[in-house]
Amino acid sequence: MKIDPNTFENFNRVLTGVVVPRPIAFVSSISPEGIVNLAPFSFFNAVSYSPPTIVFSAARHAGWKEKDTLANIEATGEFVVNIVSEDIAEAMNSTAAEFPAEVDEFEIAGLTALPSDTVKSPRVAESPVNMECRLNQIVTIGEGKSSHGLVIAEVVLLHIRDDVINGHRIDQQRLKPVGRLAGNMYCTTLDTYEMIRPTYKRDEV
Ligand SMILES: Cc1cc2nc3c(=O)[nH]c(=O)nc-3n(C[C@H](O)[C@H](O)[C@H](O)COP(=O)(O)O)c2cc1C
Repeated sequence: MKIDPNTFENFNRVLTGVVVPRPIAFVSSISPEGIVNLAPFSFFNAVSYSPPTIVFSAARHAGWKEKDTLANIEATGEFVVNIVSEDIAEAMNSTAAEFPAEVDEFEIAGLTALPSDTVKSPRVAESPVNMECRLNQIVTIGEGKSSHGLVIAEVVLLHIRDDVINGHRIDQQRLKPVGRLAGNMYCTTLDTYEMIRPTYKRDEV
């Protein structure tokens, strides 16, 4: 079967069903008026080492409203990405409803807001990793109601729980990250395996 995205109804479900599992950026941000916001985004990845750069993409609209995360980042140029571990997966999910801008999702989720060092947006105390980010640019993808903002940002400071890091190694069994599959399905990293990458040796001339 071949699928033409332009004619296939609800192609978004196919796309998000095959690009899996996706990591989840649990993004905390703050409005210029000081209203704190927290929401998950699984169009998320790390894309560059130097400068350390992450991206996530948010639809401009969520049902009846504009997404607060995008509006806050556009206004302030900063935010925090909190990594979602199994322990806070349900709390993360509870923040994903289309709450009005004045709602503080930290309260909805029963999560603790800790001050950040370099940005005004607070970070999630219960998350094993918090990445303080400064906006590089927002690239608009698509048009009108269905358009997305691709947020490109530099990680300026990373907080990590001490038991999760040993030297440069991250202990995945302790990090316990949650991945997003299609729709309401999620996965863990309990079933992992190792595969050694091959090397290519060029002949000396
Ligand atoms: C696990 C998960 C991943 C999500 N990923 C995205 C995403 O990548 N892009 C997006 O626009 N919305 C995504 N959403 C929906 C937003 O979290 C939701 O629209 C939220 O209300 C936005 O909040 P805000 O208005 O406070 O920014 C996701 C929801 C869940 C539960």
